[in-house]
Amino acid sequence: MGKVCFKGSAMLNPVPVALITCINSEGKPNVFTVGWIGTACTKPPMITVAIRPERLSYKLIKKTKEFVVNLPSKSLVKEVDFCGVRSGNTIDKIKHLKFNLEKCKYIKAPIIKQCPVALECKLKEIIPLGTHDLFLAEVVSIHIEESLIDSKGKFHIEKANLICYSHGEYFPIPQKSIGKFGFSVQKKKHKVKKL
Ligand SMILES: Cc1cc2nc3c(=O)[nH]c(=O)nc-3n(C[C@H](O)[C@H](O)[C@H](O)COP(=O)(O)O)c2cc1C
Repeated sequence: MGKVCFKGSAMLNPVPVALITCINSEGKPNVFTVGWIGTACTKPPMITVAIRPERLSYKLIKKTKEFVVNLPSKSLVKEVDFCGVRSGNTIDKIKHLKFNLEKCKYIKAPIIKQCPVALECKLKEIIPLGTHDLFLAEVVSIHIEESLIDSKGKFHIEKANLICYSHGEYFPIPQKSIGKFGFSVQKKKHKVKKL
C-alpha cells in the first residue's frame, strides 16, 4: 500500500506533555500545559518550548525569565487537560486543582509536588516564529522523586508513568523497554571457557 500525502504540518508525534509553572512579578504562580517542547542541547543542557504570545504564561515567562517543566504521571491526565484549556487570566488553576507547590533550588517559580519529575529552567532567548515563539532555556537543575531512583543511583523514568500526547489524544508511556541505546550494534558477550 502507498502513503497518502498531506500539506505540511508540524506533526512530529508523539510528544511529551508537560505542565509549566511560572510566576508573576508579585510571586503568584500559574500553570499551563505544553506539548510543543523539545530537547535542544546536552552541554549546556537546553530545551525549547513553543508558546503562543496570547498565553498568560508567555507574558509571565518573558518578564521573569524562568519557569519549571513538570512532567506529570498518568493519574494527572485530567489536570493536564484542564491546564491546557483554561487560562490563568480567568481562574487560579493551582488552587482549583489543589496542586501542592515546592521550592526550586535556583529560581523562584515553584515545582508541582504531585509531578514525579521537574526541570528548573532559565530563559536564554525568545525566537519569534509565527503562531508560536520558541523559548530556548537552560535546565539549571532537575528534581526526581526518590522512589524512581534505585540503590545504584539509576533513574527509572519508565516507572514514572509519564504521559505523551499524539494527534489530539493522551497516551500512557509503556513501562517495558524494547531496546537500549546502541543495542543494534552491540557485540554479543561470549562466555570465556575456564581452562
Ligand atoms: C495537550 C495540550 C498541549 C498544549 N501545548 C501548548 C504549547 O505547546 N504551546 C502553547 O502555547 N500552548 C499549548 N497549549 C495550550 C495552553 O496550555 C492553553 O492555552 C492554556 O490555557 C494557557 O494557559 P495560560 O493562559 O494560563 O498561560 C496546549 C494545550 C493542551 C491541552
